[in-house]
Amino acid sequence: MARESESGLPIEPVYGPDALNDWDAAEKLGEPGAYPFTRGVYPTMYTGRPWTMRQYAGFGTATESNARYRDLIAHGTMGLSVAFDLPTQMGHDSDAPIAHGEVGKVGVAIDSVDDMRVLFGGIPLDKVSTSMTINAPAALLLLLYQLVAEEQGVSADQLTGTIQNDVLKEYIARGTYIFPPKPSLRLIADIFKYCKAEIPKWNTISISGYHMAEAGASPAQEIAFTLADGIEYVRTAVAAGMDVDDFAPRLSFFFVARTTILEEVAKFRAARRIWARVMRDEFGAKNPKSLMLRFHTQTAGVQLTAQQPEVNLVRVAVQGLAAVLGGTQSLHTNSFDEAIALPTDKSARLALRTQQVLAYETDVTATVDPFAGSYVIEKMTDDVEAAALELMRKVEDLGGAVSAIEHGFQKSEIERSAYRIAQETDSGERVVVGVNRFQLDEEEPYEPLRVDPAIEAQQAERLAKLRAERDQGAVDSALDALRKAAEGEANVLYPMKEALLARATVGEVCNALRGVWGTYVPSDAF
Ligand code: 3HC
Repeated sequence: MARESESGLPIEPVYGPDALNDWDAAEKLGEPGAYPFTRGVYPTMYTGRPWTMRQYAGFGTATESNARYRDLIAHGTMGLSVAFDLPTQMGHDSDAPIAHGEVGKVGVAIDSVDDMRVLFGGIPLDKVSTSMTINAPAALLLLLYQLVAEEQGVSADQLTGTIQNDVLKEYIARGTYIFPPKPSLRLIADIFKYCKAEIPKWNTISISGYHMAEAGASPAQEIAFTLADGIEYVRTAVAAGMDVDDFAPRLSFFFVARTTILEEVAKFRAARRIWARVMRDEFGAKNPKSLMLRFHTQTAGVQLTAQQPEVNLVRVAVQGLAAVLGGTQSLHTNSFDEAIALPTDKSARLALRTQQVLAYETDVTATVDPFAGSYVIEKMTDDVEAAALELMRKVEDLGGAVSAIEHGFQKSEIERSAYRIAQETDSGERVVVGVNRFQLDEEEPYEPLRVDPAIEAQQAERLAKLRAERDQGAVDSALDALRKAAEGEANVLYPMKEALLARATVGEVCNALRGVWGTYVPSDAF
């Protein structure tokens, strides 16, 4: 009797040669680092260097987060990944009434170039690659990063890193949007053009399926809706006059790694094959780098349990292995206590050590795409690919990702999957160790890390000082220039950089754009 996979596909108890009848390895696989990239984006993958161990971190003020980054670098992390607090992610200053209670909570509070300078103090920006999980105000944080780099004497063309900058998934699953889709897509096209001209090694977007997966999306839904968003971004940039090979090499992706390791490996391989075909056949991309789906993975936060939290160390190790066997370029492993609170120094270190065991104690880095040719993996890769393509066709029939969002299509599909997971968990059909089976009579106490509530007052003081010291006339005229650019066709990043340089705050810049573009109101159609 076949079990059902997370995507609702059959997993047979035994696979044999008949699973791969008419299966053509040359067409389905190709060589590692070559079209259709099923086996991985680089010819040598991890045999030369492991994936980037890039731990998502940030909380409190820039001072606390700077200390955590330096700690992670000291313990061997290979890339930085900044978590911002919700006021920053939503384009509000720490002293805005709407920010009350959220300052420094789920990430670091960044209000101005002063805070950004502290965040990267003592960290050479020509030596690290930095990912920033920022979407609607992504342009601002990128420019603040560039301003701080220039103060360090590092020119923009030396900078490497990524901004998430994927607002479409915010409308579908995460919610940190500001502007309506049209101006949001315009701003993203402006970022692509700006980076092409000014910061050429920067990955301009991290098209994300992770948050949809955390909201309940199945593996097939996760890659289908993510790649459909990717297609929307490519169409937007082409419509804005860019040649596809001018920006496609700097697109990147972000997926989850679940504990269901076989389907996850199949999912990553299917996603690479679909994207390579879409970029070659639909957009006529010629540069091989335009066809490569390079991605970051984070282990599944939603699969962490608050009960018996140490058991999460095992889940994260299995999920991390799934990402590596699936060919990820960059990986974040969750801390075992994250279902309870922010990671402590020790739990953050253990999360990184998990990656180091995978990279340096196992043999999974010794060879490329070890599952290639496996009856089950190749069959599941084909099955997940077919299911994802079917969903992408439905999105296309609704007029593409933005139109489908306005129809509530992705959201309702994901909610259906989430409901199925909840039902299976409640019935015990889906085992969650420590939660609905193998429970403890009494949970052991665990002392989590707590964020000092005084942070909000500290940030408010810093903002008052900044506003008192700066040249308000320079700020006002820079914000006026930004509004004019937003009303017209000019690239808004250039006047935006001048405003931030004059020490305009994140909230003031976003409010200037709100005044021109308005804010998004979600459709209730689902
Ligand atoms: N052969 C040849 N070259 C290789 C190689 C190999 N085997 N391995 C690496 N390289 C080269 C690459 O070509 C690259 O050089 P280039 O930039 O000149 O092309 C360089 O070495 C670095 O390699 P990668 O680009 O593969 O690795 P990076 O780590 O630099 O980049 C990425 C990976 C996925 C492309 C990038 O976009 C990235 O780092 N993304 C991270 C996104 C992230 O961390 N997001 C966090 C989200 S958390 C969140 O959303 C919040 C919460 O809600 C979950």
